[in-house]
Amino acid sequence: MRNEDKISEVRRSVDIVDIISEYIPVIKSGRNYFAVCPFHDDHNPSMSISPEKQIYTCFSCGAHGNVFNFVMNYENISFYEAVKKLADKVGISLSFSLSATKSIRNPNEDIYNIYDVASKYYQNNILTNDGVDALEYLYKRGFTNDIIKTFGVGLSTRNSLTKVLNAKNYSEDVLVNSGISYKTNGNIYDTFTNRIMFPLCDLEGKVVGFSGRVYKSNDNSKYINTKESEIFKKGKLLYNYHRAIESCRKKKSVIIVEGFMDVIALYMVGIYNVVASMGTAITPEQARLLKKLSSNVILCFDGDKAGNKATMACAKELDKIDIRPKVVRLPDDLDPDEFIKKYGKDKIMDYLENPKSLLDYKIDEYKKETNFSDSEDVSKYIKNILLELSYVDDKLIREITIKKLSDETNVSIATLNGMLKVKKKPEKPKNIADKKRLSKYEKSERMLIYYMLRSKEVIKIYENNKCYFPTQKFRYLVSELVHYFNKNDNMIIADFITYLSDKKELLDAFNEVDTMNVSENYTYEQIMDYIDNLKEYSIKNEIKKLTYEFKKETDEIKKIELLKQISELKVRV
Ligand code: CTP
Ligand code: MN
Repeated sequence: MRNEDKISEVRRSVDIVDIISEYIPVIKSGRNYFAVCPFHDDHNPSMSISPEKQIYTCFSCGAHGNVFNFVMNYENISFYEAVKKLADKVGISLSFSLSATKSIRNPNEDIYNIYDVASKYYQNNILTNDGVDALEYLYKRGFTNDIIKTFGVGLSTRNSLTKVLNAKNYSEDVLVNSGISYKTNGNIYDTFTNRIMFPLCDLEGKVVGFSGRVYKSNDNSKYINTKESEIFKKGKLLYNYHRAIESCRKKKSVIIVEGFMDVIALYMVGIYNVVASMGTAITPEQARLLKKLSSNVILCFDGDKAGNKATMACAKELDKIDIRPKVVRLPDDLDPDEFIKKYGKDKIMDYLENPKSLLDYKIDEYKKETNFSDSEDVSKYIKNILLELSYVDDKLIREITIKKLSDETNVSIATLNGMLKVKKKPEKPKNIADKKRLSKYEKSERMLIYYMLRSKEVIKIYENNKCYFPTQKFRYLVSELVHYFNKNDNMIIADFITYLSDKKELLDAFNEVDTMNVSENYTYEQIMDYIDNLKEYSIKNEIKKLTYEFKKETDEIKKIELLKQISELKVRV
């Protein structure tokens, strides 16, 4: 059996509606199902799922595809991983090795295995005699055995892991490469010794690195992390991502904190929709991951100056992907872990349930640095807030804030309004269907493909009346469509999407056509009209070309020849 057939078998064995509803709630309406789109900041169900066609389409952000695309994008995994996942689900064994196929070939298999062994090894250590002090340290910080297990907390002891892994025939090079060991003067050592070990996982929960914490306070670097490698890139993951997915969906929000200890502290009081950035400024990649968890993001960084800076930086990164986070500001320079220790569970819940808007948070921060009996300070304060307000689209919010500002500073509303210069954001097209007006030729190429996707008959009509498509992407799309049809002798849209899966531009072109709101019914005359239009386009193009040559031409004989050709063509249009 060909790989494509196997992949198609997997696709046919699942129902896209079932699969998507395992991830997000879907509602039936008429022939289709609808869902709040997980791929953009959606508030209404903009995603439609067609059980007939086995595809989904978001009418707002344009996300679309078959069941594989959904799983790929939702879980951030490759095409072949998505196929594998669904195949496993329905018990189809794939005859071809995934690692042999192009996008998934994994040269890091050894390193993953090393991390797996290391993680188990560390976890075992902490339960032995060597682990007594470490456990005591953790218990003092409120850890329970359950929490230790959930987070895979372990212990590195004296130079022993390298030997264990050596005995399993991993070469020294691989061990050093993985970051588990290091070499100096020709000798190889464990990177981590006498530290409490916290595994760091990738988005699926596979261990890809560690952070080791001192617990006997004789070392001045509190945490040591695995060095960056092919599989461990701190900026591309969020601590606790895989565990938080479900809770974020349920709670419809995600909390981000700085440290993984803060994540664990929140877990201990029953708050699970939380991830950590692990101390560094948030990257665009991490911002996207947050958005995937929920578009309702709550920043709860440390209550100190650095926490404020991190809050601002994170908000800025999120703004680029249209997320306006809410902010929780903890008092007394505390981090969430310390706050919980000091004030308890109810108080942190209270804070997290009442986050401030980013605007109010910023205003509070400006307020803190303002001496209200100093006119220059007040003036600066006003200017700062007006600048913030200039980016606010919501007129009511601007008005409310201006009113407050006026009360606070005794500057009249009129003066404040006069100073406020609202910056208009360029309107984004709301709907991918809101397009510029199309010419008759552009309409024809789209309509023709639309019906070719729905009817073999139309494909055959086209094959007997081949014509040129004005737009490049549709020209390519139609040639792929015909190729697919001739290979498979049928036209199954969801499989055709698989066939296009590594050609993003064509997938988009496909989606543009497939989502057109036009009748499914056609007549032969209608199809021939489209084809005639496209032929007319080619002829007109040809006439243009010849006319251009005619104008350039100096030889009279050749000029007459060209004129003859042009007038022959003109008769045809
Ligand atoms: N961090 C790090 N290296 C350090 C210090 C911090 O990688 N030397 C990262 C860790 O991932 C940590 C995060 O930054 O989770 C936040 O640091 P910090 O606030 O100092 O740690 P806490 O979460 O408060 O840890 P603890 O309560 O154990 O002191
Ligand atoms: Mn802390």
